Amino acid sequence: MTSWILSYDSYDPDQEALREALCTLGNGYFATRGAAEESAADEIHYPGTYLAGGYNRLVTKIAKREIGNEDLVNLPNWLPLNFRPEGGEWFNLHTAEIFSYRQELDLKQGILRRTLRARDREGRETSLAACRLVHMGAPHLAAIEWTLTPENWSGRIEVLSALDGRVINSGVARYRQLGGKHLVPLASEEFGEDGILLVAETSQSYIRIAVAAHTRVYADKVSDKIERQFRQAEGYAAHALNFEVAEGHPVTIEKIIALHSSRDHAISSPGLAAVETLSEAGRFESLLEDHARAWSHLWHRCDIVMEGQGRTQMILRLHIFHLLQTVSPHSVDLDVGVPARGLHGEAYRGHIFWDELFIFPFLNMRIPEITRGLLRYRHRRLPAARRLAREAGYRGAMYPWQSGSDGREETQILHLNPKSGRWLPDNSHLQRHVNAAIAYNVWRYYQATGDREFLSLYGAEMLFEIARFWASIATFNQIRGRYEIRGVMGPDEYHDRYPWSDTPGLNNNAYTNIMAAWVFRRALEARALLDTDRRVELGETLALTGDEITSWDEIGRKLLVPFHEGVISQFEGYERLLEFEWDIYREKYGDIRRLDRILEAEGDTVNRYKASKQADALMLFYLFSAEELRELFSHLGYNFEGEMITRTVDYYLKRTSNGSSLSGIVHSWVLARSNRAASWTQLKEALESDIADGQGGTTREGIHLGAMAGTIDLVQRGHTGLEIRDDLLHLNPCLPEELQGLSFRIRHRGQWLDMEIGCGRLTVSAPEGWDGPRRIMVGDMSFALHAGERNKIACDYEQNGCSPIKKV
Ligand code: BGC
Repeated sequence: MTSWILSYDSYDPDQEALREALCTLGNGYFATRGAAEESAADEIHYPGTYLAGGYNRLVTKIAKREIGNEDLVNLPNWLPLNFRPEGGEWFNLHTAEIFSYRQELDLKQGILRRTLRARDREGRETSLAACRLVHMGAPHLAAIEWTLTPENWSGRIEVLSALDGRVINSGVARYRQLGGKHLVPLASEEFGEDGILLVAETSQSYIRIAVAAHTRVYADKVSDKIERQFRQAEGYAAHALNFEVAEGHPVTIEKIIALHSSRDHAISSPGLAAVETLSEAGRFESLLEDHARAWSHLWHRCDIVMEGQGRTQMILRLHIFHLLQTVSPHSVDLDVGVPARGLHGEAYRGHIFWDELFIFPFLNMRIPEITRGLLRYRHRRLPAARRLAREAGYRGAMYPWQSGSDGREETQILHLNPKSGRWLPDNSHLQRHVNAAIAYNVWRYYQATGDREFLSLYGAEMLFEIARFWASIATFNQIRGRYEIRGVMGPDEYHDRYPWSDTPGLNNNAYTNIMAAWVFRRALEARALLDTDRRVELGETLALTGDEITSWDEIGRKLLVPFHEGVISQFEGYERLLEFEWDIYREKYGDIRRLDRILEAEGDTVNRYKASKQADALMLFYLFSAEELRELFSHLGYNFEGEMITRTVDYYLKRTSNGSSLSGIVHSWVLARSNRAASWTQLKEALESDIADGQGGTTREGIHLGAMAGTIDLVQRGHTGLEIRDDLLHLNPCLPEELQGLSFRIRHRGQWLDMEIGCGRLTVSAPEGWDGPRRIMVGDMSFALHAGERNKIACDYEQNGCSPIKKV
């Protein structure tokens, strides 16, 4: 396993679904799971193709209720390709005798390779070398190259190449009781000399999808003797090719496809566009060359080199790879958000949560145009967020916890506990903190880029409307002289109500309240940054009054933060919950990450215990530096002592099950400076989480993109102390002992900086022509930053104490 290749040396049916998710290829426009070309959806395989933003809604009757669900639709399968020697069976991994098998995901070039040698029942041995790409340069194209070698036989061979639109969404077992048939077939036809075209439409959102394909055979001996037959059924189009092969002589089969949808810009119809795009695609080899070039450009911007870390380095690259396959420069114009499980499977139905919080920091520092595009997805859904706020009796904009096509609340009202088989009310929509996450993302994007136009045109409006929402949900408690936010849920999804109450929701979740206070301050700061015209325009358009703006300042100073036993309380009343018997349950169940399900199945509820699914209060130490928090607390009129951080971290680490993959990221982050060994262990676990299917077998249903991005961010910001504060770039390196060195590039205010950190030395180089900020902070020392390689900033830092000690 090199640091660029994820490889498997044998075929393992039990692992196949996981490998399909991990070997997904995509380009931000669409993605296809790494299922074998000859496979169809069954207990082992699940070929799936998903279009960014390709949602459809279905209604199912369940538990006597009509349940509507919007899904990211599994599109027509473009992979099918199979062969059979004359009179034999179609190749099948389960019936053929397999001598050798190897699968490789090449992260550098973005290709999936598979090589195998198989023998059929008649003793005919055939080698197959398959190579696949989903084009990163030309986002509508994808291609498969198969090289077949009859090793010990000669004769006729049949190759079947199909487009199959009869697929449904059935990738997640626990959703199977709900409707999954989203596609209505429209056309399956032949065109030109060797093209086939399949057109289908989603049943409710009427997204039309067209896939055009041609399959060509290249071999000296057979090229002009190919019999081609068109096979057609509703939702299915195929070409069957029949030709002669000779022992020891390889034949190459190329299947090239073009996919368009009615969501595309600059097309007449998806069918026409697909046929045209396909007609201009060259041979596989030239597609591969362009595709690999597009990837090399991305890697030049995005790679992070970890010295001396073979497997860890490979996994980090795998995470960068999947992030860029889900959102890429092609996403910028698409009006899409970031689905929590990538475009890699159907878990969470392709919905968009708050996970962007973990994803944008990486993009902000490299391809901020993508963040801008993704934030515009949120801006376009301001009207829907306003509607949600209004319907709930609030003002401003209240974004949904789960978002899909049009920004309505997509969180299900019931969810199935597979452990008990019961359908239970789902209150997770009460996670109003998603609004703070969106505001946070707007602000951090602005800080990283200095993009005032964005702030002026879109960002400020979102900040104002979110601030307005927080102001309307906050209520003043006369006795305490503080504002409160009641009836919400924090990031920890285990607690959705007090055990002594029938009403869902908790009061004064510390994370939510502090984030709301932070939002008020940023809204006011953004307002001050607007030019007078825009300030007036927005004020008029949103009917912002002077009193309202004053109230933001007032509430932002007086929000309540609960404490108990010298630590921040996750929410008010947390101290009244029972301690949980972690050891007993670990012994009884082994994996207790889904404690909520375990306890419900036992007839108990996790609401009774001091047990969290994921980092909640600790999110504060992840999102803000100690300096920022000190400032926030003092603004809120609370004391902030460093010891309180340590106490709070210790307290919740012991009481969290890490039932969300996001949790380990936060925990690794908060320990990065105080306990480097424990932090590294948490990071390694987070890195292994998807590749080893550590989240209880869920990766097969889609990768955990927030956690993947979080591992990258831990390295790029957590270990370097990289932050932008007071308009200055700050660094404060603290590498784990196991990490000898780190080098990467970041884009700061429109220009690139090269960073190298290792062996107690930090080097930052600005390119020729640098006209960015003239200073940079390392620890509390300020350095002048000049253009050109020869003007490096170099400083030594104390590797164990992790603080800079001298300029070099
Ligand atoms: C976590 C959420 C997260 C969601 C999607 C859930 O398990 O609790 O915080 O947003 O998964 O990744």
